[in-house]
Amino acid sequence: KKRIGVLTSGGDSPGMNAAVRAIVRVAISRGCDAYAIFEGYEGLVNGGEMIKKFGWADVRGYLSIGGTLIGTARCKSFRERKGRLSAAYNLVKTGIDALIVCGGDGSLTGADVLRSEWPELLDELLKEERITAEEAATYRHLTVVGLVGSIDNDMSSTDITIGAVTSLHRICEAVDSISSTALSHSRAFVVEVMGRNCGWLALMAAVSTGADFVFIPERPPESDDWENEMCEVLKKHRQLGKRKTIIIVAEGAIDKNLNPIRPEYIKKLLTDRMGLDTRVTTLGHTQRGGKPCSFDRNLATLQGVEAVHAVLRATPDTPSPMIGIRENKITCEPLMKAVELTRQVAEAIARKDFKRAMELRDPEFFE
Ligand code: F6P
Repeated sequence: KKRIGVLTSGGDSPGMNAAVRAIVRVAISRGCDAYAIFEGYEGLVNGGEMIKKFGWADVRGYLSIGGTLIGTARCKSFRERKGRLSAAYNLVKTGIDALIVCGGDGSLTGADVLRSEWPELLDELLKEERITAEEAATYRHLTVVGLVGSIDNDMSSTDITIGAVTSLHRICEAVDSISSTALSHSRAFVVEVMGRNCGWLALMAAVSTGADFVFIPERPPESDDWENEMCEVLKKHRQLGKRKTIIIVAEGAIDKNLNPIRPEYIKKLLTDRMGLDTRVTTLGHTQRGGKPCSFDRNLATLQGVEAVHAVLRATPDTPSPMIGIRENKITCEPLMKAVELTRQVAEAIARKDFKRAMELRDPEFFE
C-alpha cells in the first residue's frame, strides 16, 4: 500500500487546492493513504503535527478556493543538506514512500535535489542510527512527482502551469479597468506585472488588452535608441486617434545589457519626451490571489490524477516525473530534464543569448 505525501511550495497559485483535492481523492480511491504536508518543505523538515493523514472529506470545498489551504513557504532550511536530511527522516518515520510536490521552478528544483540525494540521505540516517536497517531497505526508493503550480508559466517542458491563466485573467481585468480611466483623462499608464524572469504574463496580457508596448525579459529592446523608438510608436498611436497609452512591463524586464527596465523610468520618458500625464500601477499580489478560473481547476484536477497514476506506475528505475500539458494532452516527462532546461533559460539570458532563451522557453510562442 502506497503512502503518498503532498505539499505545495513557493509562491501560491490559484488551482493548487484543486490539485491537492484530486491527489488525496484519487490516492484514497486507489487504496493508498494520503498525507498533507503543511507549509511546503517546512512541514517536511519539521515533521510532527505538520504532516497529517487526509481523508476524503478533508479536501471538501477545495476546488474553488484560491491560494493553498495546506499552506506554503519559501523554505530556507530545505536548501541545506541538513534540512533535507530531516525531511528524509520525517518521510521514513511517517511511512511516506511517494511525494508529490506542487510548486514552481525553485520548488521543483528542490524536489529534484531530494530525489537525487535520497539513497545517500538514507545511508547517512542509518549511519547516525536514526533509522533502522529495515527502514533503510523498505524506503530505498522514494518516488517524487512534480506538478507545476506557478502563475509565472516559467517552467520548461509544459505549455502552461497551474494558476497562470487565472492570473492572466486578473491582469486583463485590471488593465481593462485602468484603460477606462486612462481613456477619460487621455493619460498613459505603465503597468508592472509579475512573472519573475519570465515574460509570459506580460506578453499575453499585452496581446489580450491591446497594449501599446510591452517589455519582457526574453526579448530586450535591440536598438541603442529604443527609448526614442518607443516614443515614436506611441506618438503614432496617438496620431491615429488613441486617447490612452498602455505599457506593460514584466517585473523581470531588462535591456540588452541586462539592466532592469523599471516602470518609473518609462514613466519619466513618457512625461519628459512626450508630455503625457503618466501613472504607474504595480498590480502586485492581486494577480496571484483569488478564485481559480475553470481552466486552472480542470488542469490541476487532471494533473493531480495523473500524478497519482505516475506514483502507481513508478518502478525503482523510473526517473521522477513532472506532470505537464502539451498541445492539450497531459504529459509525464522526467523532472530532471525539465529542471535542467529551465536552468538553461536563465543561463542563456545571463549570457545575453536571448534567441536561445526564447527557443528554450517555447519557440513557437515567443517567436
Ligand atoms: O513566483 C510567483 C511570484 O508571484 C512571482 O511572479 C513574483 O516575482 C514573486 O512570486 C513574488 O514573491 P513574494 O510573494 O514572495 O513577494
